[in-house]
Amino acid sequence: MVENGPLFESLLQGPLRMLESLEQEIFGSRLELTLADVERPLRKLYGDRGDYKTWRNHLIRIVARRYASRSHDLRRLDLQRLEEVDWFQQSHMVGYVCYADRFAGTLGGVGEKIDYLKELGVTYLHLMPLLKPRPGANDGGYAVMDYRQVMESLGTMDDLAQLATKLRDQGISLCIDLVCNHTAKEHEWAQKAVRGDLDYQNYYLMFPDRELPDQYEQTVREIFPEFKSGSFTYYPEIERWVWTTFNEFQWDLNYANPAVFAEMLDVMLYLANQGIEILRLDAVAFMWKRLGTDCENQPEAHYILQALRALSRIAAPGLLLKAEAIVPPPQLVPYLGRGEATNKECEVAYHNVLMVMLWSSLAERKVALMTHALQQMPPIPSRSSWLTYVRCHDDIGWAVTEEDAAAVGLNGFLHRFFLSDFYSGRFPGTFARGATFQFNPKNNDRRISGSCASLAGLEAADDAEEVNRAIGRILLLHSMILAFGGIPLIYMGDEIGLLNDHSYEDNRDLARDNRWMHRPFMDWEKVADRHDWTSVNGRIFQGMRRLIQVRKKTTALHAEAAAYAVWTHNEHVFGLLRESPRGRVLVLGNFSEWGQAVSRGRLKELGFDGPLVELIIDQNLDAWSDIYLEPYQAMWLTEDERDAD
Ligand code: GLC
Repeated sequence: MVENGPLFESLLQGPLRMLESLEQEIFGSRLELTLADVERPLRKLYGDRGDYKTWRNHLIRIVARRYASRSHDLRRLDLQRLEEVDWFQQSHMVGYVCYADRFAGTLGGVGEKIDYLKELGVTYLHLMPLLKPRPGANDGGYAVMDYRQVMESLGTMDDLAQLATKLRDQGISLCIDLVCNHTAKEHEWAQKAVRGDLDYQNYYLMFPDRELPDQYEQTVREIFPEFKSGSFTYYPEIERWVWTTFNEFQWDLNYANPAVFAEMLDVMLYLANQGIEILRLDAVAFMWKRLGTDCENQPEAHYILQALRALSRIAAPGLLLKAEAIVPPPQLVPYLGRGEATNKECEVAYHNVLMVMLWSSLAERKVALMTHALQQMPPIPSRSSWLTYVRCHDDIGWAVTEEDAAAVGLNGFLHRFFLSDFYSGRFPGTFARGATFQFNPKNNDRRISGSCASLAGLEAADDAEEVNRAIGRILLLHSMILAFGGIPLIYMGDEIGLLNDHSYEDNRDLARDNRWMHRPFMDWEKVADRHDWTSVNGRIFQGMRRLIQVRKKTTALHAEAAAYAVWTHNEHVFGLLRESPRGRVLVLGNFSEWGQAVSRGRLKELGFDGPLVELIIDQNLDAWSDIYLEPYQAMWLTEDERDAD
């Protein structure tokens, strides 16, 4: 029994000594229940070391210290979360993502915009990187210098904690980024390494010559080929090649060193104790390197996450971990836990494939590829959930596999080429106005930047009909992420149709990175028009708000409900069947600018043979007519219960 073991005894004398006995007991029982989940991955990572036990006990001591300093309010929240384990899967959950400065100036400013967020229906707010970054170019804050300080221009750590409380009081959970794969080269650890401290040199991956870097580079991919070539940077002052997967100023951490793991665990729990409810773990796929592989999605990257989760559950079981792994489905799904780690890794992860397929279908006006690709997705554990999104702060990479393309009669390479042409505005007749991001001449890969509205045709629209179509596309895509299952994330400005913003071109630190074109400043004047149904922004806002309200009350859209992509027998109309004991919803989406029909015969085959209600516009449909969809119309159909008796 751990509770009576010498470790627990020493914790009772040490970090836990000031707690009341009930709180000590809670810690003891959580430790006991979780220890196997801690040990399993930890042994795989560090079990071969002679000092394994010392490290394990050190980690548990960190957890005990952070548990002891967790506030009463947050302990209460932990208990609520343990009671209501599906809190983040329920259909009332709706997320919003923004840069604090671009949205409201400062953290205090964000606090003043809570009414706006509530009006939209938001229950989850992701504030983009806000921990102290390096000065100058910092990859949008993804080059952190100090994990325990907030970016000065936004406020202080106390302001962040206060904002978290204020949001929570209004039913909104705060999410921030924890950039755990790398630090800025200006971080204290990196600076110590530069000064020759060997302990800290071992925090990073450093090589005296090109021998190993050359070998690694044969198999790793280049992430930002336009910014720099290769994955290593030479620093003459230390005569070392340092592993830099992303930009030169972002140094990859060495998780083979347990000291790095311990530091990150402590940072994680420190942030949880500020009231952060969800941590977005950045670039997790890259956290472990292995010669001869692409150094992504290695089993050890999963063990790190599993161990972090198990340890954090002891001190802060309310905390959710979100994996940012933009990798193909077979590699992505395991971040939500599988095998022994089912429900024991990250709780949420981005559904990159859905996002890519939505844009692909819109360009092609056909849904076969999306239907097929989604049908191929492996299932996810019951206590996990997708984050669904239309746009985010990053570029769109065309994650279309050769197999999926071939299965529907397309050539993968040509289709990806087409999508890049289409969305960069090169393809004849395209409605999209985006730009190419990171052209890689070695494999012809071209990703895309651009705001939702610009990619959906609003920027190019020059008559009322084209504006209508663009609005139709924006709402169609959002109706899909709101009904798919998981937490839908609305990216700031998309709710009022903000276009590409080219002001970044005049900022020396940003100009090279055109992802800033879709990271605009909030336009509060446009927001002020949001109740005006005749304005473009008002139509988008009200349309989205309606979708959100309907989603919230449709409990059958709970994340746990199965989501099957179904063939509607109309190649322009996507079908998604949501099925659960709470009810069934058939989601239809017309991805073309022409009216379309889905036959009643097909609906009957899918099990819908009575009268129906379309939930978005609240319309009753008889039991026999075909279903007619306007251009870009979405429908959420459910059985008309009034007829059930
Ligand atoms: C993630 C972020 C991206 C950043 C990269 C490096 O992919 O979303 O914006 O450039 O990590 O931190």
